[in-house]
Amino acid sequence: MESPFEILGVDSDADDAEIERAYRRRVKESHPDHGGSAEEFKAVYAAYREILDGYEETGTDDGADADRPWRRGNADETGGDEGGEEESEESRVEFLNYEVLDDHGWKLDDDDLFEKASAAGLDPADYGEITVEPNQSLLEAAEEQGFAWPYACRGGACANCAVAVIDGEMEMDSSNILPSEMIADGIRLSCLNGPVTDEMKVVYNVKHLPNLDELKLPPDRFERAHLND
Ligand code: FES
Repeated sequence: MESPFEILGVDSDADDAEIERAYRRRVKESHPDHGGSAEEFKAVYAAYREILDGYEETGTDDGADADRPWRRGNADETGGDEGGEEESEESRVEFLNYEVLDDHGWKLDDDDLFEKASAAGLDPADYGEITVEPNQSLLEAAEEQGFAWPYACRGGACANCAVAVIDGEMEMDSSNILPSEMIADGIRLSCLNGPVTDEMKVVYNVKHLPNLDELKLPPDRFERAHLND
């Protein structure tokens, strides 16, 4: 079986910068739209995660193959309060579907985007509100409350579930697949994390934004089923 270093095509003593470069290169090579496949694409991401989690050539990986440590709710990676009280308050999230912006001539950076959305009489699937429990991802919360938001891998390896945070904060492990510039611009992956503020406004379905398009995977069967509804 190939080691994570072999999958990325770097030596096992490569430094962080070399690994990062190799990862970005392999992400592009393995993308289904560029001759790769969804499986290969996910394997590249998994290899990168394994290296970050301390994989060694002996085959050990710091025991990090239990739960995915970057998942929300794992105190080690999410800045959880050691020995402290679990956060217990749910967050209120106002959401808007990116696909309706064009229809109304709105832009993602309009200051009054959500005011306009609230007054526009949009379909409840396109504009509304959900609550998110402390240990729940935004995507899980949306699904639990009856909304079919896009996703594919559910593991941080694509951009299908991306949302743009307009107001409030959403935690994000910097080692996911998103370029750091997009993270700085408030783009987050809804399958991994949830809000860290009591209230948040997000535009979901932003997977067609420039730079995110090339990180998309073919939609999961769940998504295709809902698209056919
Ligand atoms: S990163 Fe692939 S569905 Fe969230």
